[in-house]
Amino acid sequence: MINMAFLALALTRPTLVGALAPSSRRLARAMAEQVGSASTVIELGAGTGAVTAALRAVAPHSPLLAVELQRHLAAGLKRRFPDVEVSCAAAHEVLEERALAPGDTVLVSSLPFRSLPEPLRTTTLQSLLVFVEAHPGRRLVQYTYQPRAPFALPRASRLQWTLREVVWGNLPPAGVWVLKNAGAA
Ligand SMILES: C[S@@+](CC[C@H](N)C(=O)[O-])C[C@H]1O[C@@H](n2cnc3c(N)ncnc32)[C@H](O)[C@@H]1O
Repeated sequence: MINMAFLALALTRPTLVGALAPSSRRLARAMAEQVGSASTVIELGAGTGAVTAALRAVAPHSPLLAVELQRHLAAGLKRRFPDVEVSCAAAHEVLEERALAPGDTVLVSSLPFRSLPEPLRTTTLQSLLVFVEAHPGRRLVQYTYQPRAPFALPRASRLQWTLREVVWGNLPPAGVWVLKNAGAA
């Protein structure tokens, strides 16, 4: 079914959305399955809540913070998921505020890194890399429609990408990637 609020945003702010439709259920489930036993999950770019719903299904009682920049989408998330903490803010602001989050926090992101406008893209990437590098147990789960990692890492980075799954049933097919500290379990 077409989500009109999402489609309207995709047409008016395409660089912030990077897709014409919310994540499919298959893609959302594949993302959520990468969370494992994390004590805290922070979802970035929660949009209409497709991934939020999958995260709730795999870990109904874990602390979950859903971050969404667009006010009307954040309001929709609050209505749909009364037990989820929702922050209407930019991802980098939340990551900086939550620097002291538990060392096994997992970030689950639908942020469209390939289309985000500068300087938002660089600011967001920097805060995300700092957040994950700060503890060996932290990870980022990110999907991309491209046949390569979601974004390139700086040369000196201690982080590494792993492709975990390709969701062929998503339109277009999407790779689910995990970014973690090299050598971490
Ligand atoms: C691909 S869409 C959301 C997909 C989501 N999984 C869904 O099913 O609706 C990306 C979302 O990221 C949000 N977004 C873009 N840049 C952001 C930022 N810097 N901080 C927080 N949210 C952001 C957009 O408003 C949009 O809702």
